[in-house]
Amino acid sequence: TSSLRIAPSLLSANFARLGEEVEAVIDAGADLIHFDVMDNHYVPNLTVGPLVCEAIRPHSRVPIDVHLMVRPVDALVPMFAQAGAGLISFHPEASEHVHRTIQLIRSHGCKPGLVLNPATPLSVLDHVLDDLDLVLVMSVNPGFGGQAFIESALPKIEAIRRRIDATGRDIWLEVDGGVKPGNAARIAAAGADTLVAGSAVFGAGPGQYRQAIDAVRQAA
Ligand code: DX5
Ligand code: ZN
Repeated sequence: TSSLRIAPSLLSANFARLGEEVEAVIDAGADLIHFDVMDNHYVPNLTVGPLVCEAIRPHSRVPIDVHLMVRPVDALVPMFAQAGAGLISFHPEASEHVHRTIQLIRSHGCKPGLVLNPATPLSVLDHVLDDLDLVLVMSVNPGFGGQAFIESALPKIEAIRRRIDATGRDIWLEVDGGVKPGNAARIAAAGADTLVAGSAVFGAGPGQYRQAIDAVRQAA
């Protein structure tokens, strides 16, 4: 559908040319830039921090969608807000006080998101859903690009869509991991409105990003 947002994940970009990669996917139709932050502690991989977010900010005219896979969370929130993040999402397992972290993100002028791992129950949304602007459903275990989509994410997306609709608020429902043209229709039909795509976009190679983004969007 045309209202679907596509968020290319920089994890699969060429890090030697990050500014150009950001501009290229935006020119190709990206609605958000998905920025994966890993700490070799909460997840078994290590990526980038606020310094790199700040460096790409001038190259992006769309919001930077920061996905924090770090523990602890709170100290990084003001740093990413300062570095130009538009949305900041975190994993509830990594925060001592989930409600406090949500308020912290909002108090720094960013939109707060909560991330559910494949085994994280929907009950983490109890008491905080109304405070969120984004729910991010992991359809792989966090840590690496290029993994296979976990099918049990689909009924979970449907259940979260029902809960979001019941709030009457415009809370985005984003899906991250293994999104491809071949499963985008089912993910969108389940109720997702925002799709992260790393290897599906950047794996297409330079010059092919529009075709790759359109393939996901049109499939959905
Ligand atoms: C995984 C990251 C994802 C990853 C998705 O921990 O959160 O954003 O880059 O990559 P693909 O789309 O290749 O599964
Ligand atoms: Zn991510």
